[in-house]
Amino acid sequence: MTSNKTLIALGIVAFAGMAMLTSCVKDNPDSPGFEYFPDMYRSNSPETNVAYESSYARDSMSNMLPAEGSIPRGFVAFPYANTLQGDSLAARFWTYSNFGIKQSDENEEKGKGLYKVYCSHCHGDKGDGNGKLVESGKYASVPPSYIARHKENNLSEGHVYWVITHGKGNMGSHALFLSPEERMQVAMYVQRLGRGGSAWSAYQQELAKPAADSTKTDSLKIAGK
Ligand code: HEC
Repeated sequence: MTSNKTLIALGIVAFAGMAMLTSCVKDNPDSPGFEYFPDMYRSNSPETNVAYESSYARDSMSNMLPAEGSIPRGFVAFPYANTLQGDSLAARFWTYSNFGIKQSDENEEKGKGLYKVYCSHCHGDKGDGNGKLVESGKYASVPPSYIARHKENNLSEGHVYWVITHGKGNMGSHALFLSPEERMQVAMYVQRLGRGGSAWSAYQQELAKPAADSTKTDSLKIAGK
């Protein structure tokens, strides 16, 4: 009998003890109560995706915003506004050499890949403005032909870059899809389509040829006189 009573008494004491240890702290209903191994619940090391209020974990990964005025890597400021004046200033001054990129077959090829993804469904594979979307009749605007723009001398890289960055008329901005360098590469390919598709190196040879031929015909003419 006595041993039974002792057992019951012990049980009550143990239960009360457990209840005391595990029950919430009165003032804070969120408190987990007594924690036997607190390190097992809360890591001492800084956690990701936590907005640290204190400065102790400043260097760790967290969701803190970058300092005001910081610039992402690879960012190139484009100082020409979304205005007609911005367009003509970009056309004049935003050149490959000022940007620091070389015209080459390789860069054109990179531009071609991007053009096929982002532009040809409207502007067409040949840049004539007859992309699949336009031909389907589901898109109200017909983009101008690059070939015509090239003939008018209106297809400078600065202008193309400006249009890609800000958009124009019914064409939206493509700045979110293309990095500054990629925009320049696409501009190279747009110019290639404008001149009828000849690659940069072949075009340089074409440019060199007529000069040589004209001196030849000139000298022939003179010789014939
Ligand atoms: C959704 C269809 C669409 C897409 C996609 C598109 N464009 Fe256009 N683009 C247009 C239309 C329409 C115009 C004519 C805008 C106007 O003058 O009102 C235009 C105009 C232009 C012009 C200006 C031509 C000029 O001098 O008048 C350039 C350059 C150009 N686009 C380049 C691009 C490049 C490069 C891409 C891909 C990165 C692209 N576009 C993607 C529809 C599109």
